[in-house]
Amino acid sequence: MKFSFLSLLAPALAAAADEDPTNTYDYIVVGSGPGGGPLSAELARAGYSTLLIEAGTDQWDNPTYADIQNFNEAANDETTRWDFWVKHSDDAARDLKFKHTTWDTGDGTFYVGLDPPEGAKLLGIQYPRAAVLGGCAMHNAGVASLPEDDDWNRIVNLTGDTSWEAGKMREYLKKIERNEYADKDDVSHGHDGWLSISQTDPSWTTNSSNPAVKIMKRLAELIGQDPSDITNLANTDLLGDFPARDTMSSFFNMATHADSKGKRSSPNNYIRATLADAAKYPLTVKLNTLATKVLFNTTTGTGGSGKPRATGVEVMSGPSLYRADPKHVPLTSSPPPPTTQYFARREVILSGGAFNTPQLLKLSGIGPSAELSSHSIPVLVDLPGVGEGLTDNYEGSLLGLAKVPISSGLITLLFRTPNAPTPKRNIYAWCGAFSFEGFWPGYPNYYGPEQYTCAMVHVKPRGQSGSVRLVSGDPLDRPEINFRFFEKGGDEDLAELVSAANILRESWQAAGPYVVPFRELHPCPTERQNGTAACGEGGQKEYFKLQAYSHHATSSCQIGGDGDGMAVLDSKFRVRGTEGLRVVDASAWPNVPGFFPSVPTMMISVKASEDIIREAREGDAGKGE
Ligand SMILES: Cc1cc2nc3c(=O)[nH]c(=O)nc-3n(C[C@H](O)[C@H](O)[C@H](O)COP(=O)(O)OP(=O)(O)OC[C@H]3O[C@@H](n4cnc5c(N)ncnc54)[C@H](O)[C@@H]3O)c2cc1C
Ligand SMILES: *[C@@H]1O[C@H](CO)[C@@H](O)[C@H](O)[C@H]1NC(C)=O
Ligand SMILES: *[C@@H]1O[C@H](CO)[C@@H](O)[C@H](O)[C@H]1NC(C)=O
Ligand SMILES: *[C@@H]1O[C@H](CO)[C@@H](O)[C@H](O)[C@H]1NC(C)=O
Ligand SMILES: *[C@@H]1O[C@H](CO)[C@@H](O)[C@H](O)[C@H]1NC(C)=O
Repeated sequence: MKFSFLSLLAPALAAAADEDPTNTYDYIVVGSGPGGGPLSAELARAGYSTLLIEAGTDQWDNPTYADIQNFNEAANDETTRWDFWVKHSDDAARDLKFKHTTWDTGDGTFYVGLDPPEGAKLLGIQYPRAAVLGGCAMHNAGVASLPEDDDWNRIVNLTGDTSWEAGKMREYLKKIERNEYADKDDVSHGHDGWLSISQTDPSWTTNSSNPAVKIMKRLAELIGQDPSDITNLANTDLLGDFPARDTMSSFFNMATHADSKGKRSSPNNYIRATLADAAKYPLTVKLNTLATKVLFNTTTGTGGSGKPRATGVEVMSGPSLYRADPKHVPLTSSPPPPTTQYFARREVILSGGAFNTPQLLKLSGIGPSAELSSHSIPVLVDLPGVGEGLTDNYEGSLLGLAKVPISSGLITLLFRTPNAPTPKRNIYAWCGAFSFEGFWPGYPNYYGPEQYTCAMVHVKPRGQSGSVRLVSGDPLDRPEINFRFFEKGGDEDLAELVSAANILRESWQAAGPYVVPFRELHPCPTERQNGTAACGEGGQKEYFKLQAYSHHATSSCQIGGDGDGMAVLDSKFRVRGTEGLRVVDASAWPNVPGFFPSVPTMMISVKASEDIIREAREGDAGKGE
């Protein structure tokens, strides 16, 4: 009670006499996705006046976003789309072999493919992001899964901070979760949070004449499970709290952050619920507002630390200001849009995502000094790790045409390939009558009703040398993003993808005489797929090396230990070398958290809010004594 009383008083106590109440808040959070959304709501609910700045709009009632089944339309939709054109390597010729390389034809349309028209300008490989209240959790597929226990424990090892222990982190899932499938008395799940999580109906797996069920039974044998038990296995909880979870090759019931009626659930829900009680919770949201710079007081830090202290942010207001927005209209008049400044009494928290957070830090003078200087940005803190260490899961797919359409539900499995480096699972796969080959304007392709895909997510890439670097000091420009796929340990990573594709391909042979042979479209094009890869090990490796894609970018502003010169953050999300500044989003992860980062990033968002609120209360208690 004492603490909540203090927290209500604290903001008023801290307010300076000459402060303008219309532009000053306790906290400013930039970005409303899984990283910033929950955090901003928690700070407001703890009584702190909080400004949430979001470059996009609110689309909560737009069915393209609200109905989770429309996720492909959502990620293609110009209403929220931010196009980043990324590189997969430093080898331009290699990247040009990516089948869905995108070009600007100059007449307002894109060309996607290997044979661009004369005069077309190379854009690169599309990497969609959503500029919208709720961030990419408003256009993603909503797959809800957890990191490996070691992803949490590794942070403990790196930083010595035991609050990150895997056993403790599950509490944050419980805190945010409104689970719709577990028993109400199942204490391993949360039941009254703001994030609905639901499952699919696995009853289709009981029909043993369904070709997909035959495939599944064969897959069960191949991953060491009992083929007679697939219906039961297909109902395994993807978010289950099993002791040997990370080594458990099995089918799962795919959980999504949506309710059982198919309505998407995301940080947007929590932000709107917080705004709805404005009398109680001092949250202000500014949409269509692009943060362009963090403001600092460089005079001295509190206690004479000499560190620059974040005091606010500078923004530009208006829709579609950022050039990643396809609706962006180039400014014809020379003066740029006017800027506004907002001030934070306590802290600024950056949550713009793995591309925008490092860009914003660099624009503000926090980053590798040589890079900043080359764009005439005064260096406040030489922090070489900002924008480095970018990484992602590798994804690829086995795509074929069956002789007849296979109508069934989705097979979801997590398994370990025999060549994996540890006893842990290294592949998440989902198989069904769809196609998924990565991202480009207008994705995915439709190959007709006979299309059948097993899409794969590979985890724990051996290399982690991607980067987000400035192309200019203009905050409206996109940074240059290069993932440097397969640069280190690539051959071993590719071998794991090939091993997984071989297992999946072999399972297809069991689909039944009317269904096989599949006409494999990739990785090994052949009219008569027979269970042996027609293009061999080498051909498959080459295919995945050129055509792998990704959409779980993380780690461009990593948490790391005190002695690690490339660490950007400490274990409490504080930006090293500064005061009053944190980063809370997917860029903070030292590596991609398991197979899907959305729910894990919401979990660390709530953890960060606890760290911040605890520090604020301790600080205020200290002042009061
Ligand atoms: C197409 C697609 C599908 C995906 N599917 C899944 C999935 O099924 N499951 C899963 O777990 N993960 C999935 N992901 C990944 C997941 O959605 C992201 O990892 C997650 O949203 C990252 O959260 P974040 O808060 O770091 O960043 P984001 O979600 O990108 O949020 C950042 C927010 O900050 C805003 N912003 C950025 N810069 C500024 C600025 N300068 N000023 C103001 N606002 C700014 C942006 O508009 C955005 O709203 C998918 C991603 C994509 C692109
Ligand atoms: C953490 O460190 C211990 C001791 O060095 C080691 O045994 C363990 O494997 C490490 N765990 C992770 C996840 O890195
Ligand atoms: C079982 O699957 C077969 C083959 O797809 C299909 O023809 C049949 O209608 C299905 N039976 C039921 C009860 O769904
Ligand atoms: C900057 O910080 C110093 C030391 O805390 C303080 O005296 C000064 O007023 C601050 N300047 C501004 C512009 O807030
Ligand atoms: C499968 O097809 C490949 C060529 O695509 C061939 O080399 C191989 O012998 C065939 N295997 C069987 C078992 O038919």
